[in-house]
Amino acid sequence: MTAMGKSASSHGVAVPLSSGHVETVLSEETPITPREYRDFQEFLEKTCGIRLGEKQEYLIVSRLSGLMAEQGMASLGHLLEALRQDAHGTLKTIVIDAMTTNETFWFRDMAHFRILSDTIFSGADRMHRPLRIWSAACSTGQEPYSISMMAEEYRRVRPGRLPHDVEIVATDISTRIVAEASTGIYCGMTLSRGLTAQQRHRFFSPQGECIRVNPEIRRRVEFRSMNLTQDFSGMGRFDVIFCRNVLIYFSNALKKSILDKIAETLHPGGYLFVGSTESISGFTGRFEMVAGHGGIAYRLKD
Ligand SMILES: C[S@@+](CC[C@H](N)C(=O)[O-])C[C@H]1O[C@@H](n2cnc3c(N)ncnc32)[C@H](O)[C@@H]1O
Repeated sequence: MTAMGKSASSHGVAVPLSSGHVETVLSEETPITPREYRDFQEFLEKTCGIRLGEKQEYLIVSRLSGLMAEQGMASLGHLLEALRQDAHGTLKTIVIDAMTTNETFWFRDMAHFRILSDTIFSGADRMHRPLRIWSAACSTGQEPYSISMMAEEYRRVRPGRLPHDVEIVATDISTRIVAEASTGIYCGMTLSRGLTAQQRHRFFSPQGECIRVNPEIRRRVEFRSMNLTQDFSGMGRFDVIFCRNVLIYFSNALKKSILDKIAETLHPGGYLFVGSTESISGFTGRFEMVAGHGGIAYRLKD
């Protein structure tokens, strides 16, 4: 899986410096030492939970060489030293932004959206408050906006149902990604990945070469940056949590602790979605499986 705008390469990357000359960092000539790799693995896991496996040095090369060349840092050791002295956390934020994988697309795992509409929305038809949904690693926003489009469509074809509508909180650790998502503007390849021409026409408006999510879809979604390794107590309670395609990057202990916090954050009988290739079995006994449309949701046991 390669994040958008982040190219993978196993070689050093040549980057022009502001001084004009080109320097190659993290190449065969200036390799990452085992000690530097271990220290960087530790930094990343401690800061955001992401575990770099063995022989994933290429990810550091492809994602951080440009930044390091720009900053005049000749080795990963220099970057680690700068991170130690980064009192305001500015460099840390940039490094995390670069190291996260933001792959996503519209209506990813369609079965989840069918369960959302047919089981969860229809079960909440007479709710006396908004249905609260958390998109807990929202990346560039396709997930929360897809949820909002489902809610829009559900309410359009069933007038009077879901009378208090749906509220969506969308969070991600990457502040850059959250800022991008909140503009609701999509260009290039992202337009076609998972959206039909009809959905594009109905829920978006042209914006130059790009398209922008219409206000009636945008208004349900509140974006914030948030690290899943931290406390969830400021989030309030939810009826549904989408935590998809992010637990795979974490250790088993962290997965377990996040699933425990999710269980505490859901209303009784609330639903959890994880990625279609992820499983929660062995990490928590608090959910029961609900199968439908070829997909799986997890319902918090009463
Ligand atoms: C592969 S994307 C998944 C996007 C979307 N949920 C989907 O399934 O299409 C993973 C996202 O998790 C975010 N992420 C990684 N570590 C995180 C953490 N500790 N807290 C919150 N978000 C994190 C990344 O920034 C990235 O945008």
